[in-house]
Amino acid sequence: PPPQPGHPQMGQPYRQDPQSGGVEDQDADVVAGASGGIGQPLSLLLKASPLVDHLSLYDVVNTPGVTADLSHISSIAQIDGYLPADNGMAKAFKNADIVIIPAGIPRKPGMTRDDLFKINAGIVQGLIEGIADNAPDAFILVISNPVNSTVPIAAEVLKKKGKFNPKKLFGVTTLDVVRAETFVQQLTGTKDPSKTRIPVIGGHSGETIVPLFSKAEPSVNIPADKLDALTNRVQFGGDEVVKAKDGAGSATLSMAYAGFRFAEQVIKAARGETGIVEPTFVYLPGVTGGDEIAKETGLEYFSVPVELGKDGAQKAHNIVKEANDYEKKLLQKAYEGLKGNIEKGVEFVHNPP
Ligand code: NAI
Repeated sequence: PPPQPGHPQMGQPYRQDPQSGGVEDQDADVVAGASGGIGQPLSLLLKASPLVDHLSLYDVVNTPGVTADLSHISSIAQIDGYLPADNGMAKAFKNADIVIIPAGIPRKPGMTRDDLFKINAGIVQGLIEGIADNAPDAFILVISNPVNSTVPIAAEVLKKKGKFNPKKLFGVTTLDVVRAETFVQQLTGTKDPSKTRIPVIGGHSGETIVPLFSKAEPSVNIPADKLDALTNRVQFGGDEVVKAKDGAGSATLSMAYAGFRFAEQVIKAARGETGIVEPTFVYLPGVTGGDEIAKETGLEYFSVPVELGKDGAQKAHNIVKEANDYEKKLLQKAYEGLKGNIEKGVEFVHNPP
């Protein structure tokens, strides 16, 4: 039967309680790409979080099902889900607090993140236009790959619309941090790997990912003959998952965990909690302290530990200059790779293919 009025395919929100009048337009935390491999577990973690009181799910498919399913969880978050029909994106994004974007295709074996550019660039562009028009004050967390290019795309789209706030645009690189914490544990033997904080900086693909083990807190002692392998595993850890999934996609569950962990920090900082510092890929000239890092790296976008506050990125920490000689060599390679990735993103918006 055709969808009835009120059904989400008609662009109406699917509501937890259809009689309640809904909660749309009220400071939602939004997941765009909510029905995907990352989107579903990420939405689950957000729905279960006491920090989230309104969750709004958007995808081009399956949001009615995902929303109905999650709506039965007895947590505080109200939940709506939208499809594109009848202005669904605008409704999903309206006045959002945060929009987290895991929309787009993932890698298959043999693919690099850059291979995803052709499809994901356009998807991210469209979503960012929707955010600029409907939620210009939202924190934007970009998960869609290649992050090294999709974040510059997002910035350029927002600039064009006169809505760019660099303090609120973040490329999510937390999975690289999570992997570094996990993989180093095999050498340190600590009980809880998340207690060792390792800054991972640069970008989010292969050699642009630079773990700074010399800056770990508490400090870690990595035997010289193990350092190459460990660094390489952090840089290419995503390939292990792509290979094991054998054509069925890339990291989704660990990414959902990482995306949730970063989103939680952004939400806490926005609510006034202080002292929160997380590595994230930002537009350096727009963040306090970023100019110095831009000068040092020759790049406008880079991931460094960023202090988060009520209005977003408060301060970018110049950890680049604290890297040891081994890490400085890695950084040189990262700069080269990043330069091309960033230019490609900027170019996509200014001279569309
Ligand atoms: P998936 O294919 O399982 O899910 C993607 C979802 O996006 C699908 O539900 C699809 O319908 C939706 N989508 C496509 N176009 C859309 C649009 N215009 N608007 C809204 N939704 C749309 O992919 P998966 O595994 O969830 O990965 C998503 C992205 O995240 C990929 O680009 C992947 O490379 C990236 N990723 C990023 C990581 C990071 O560390 N930043 C780590 C792992 C993956």
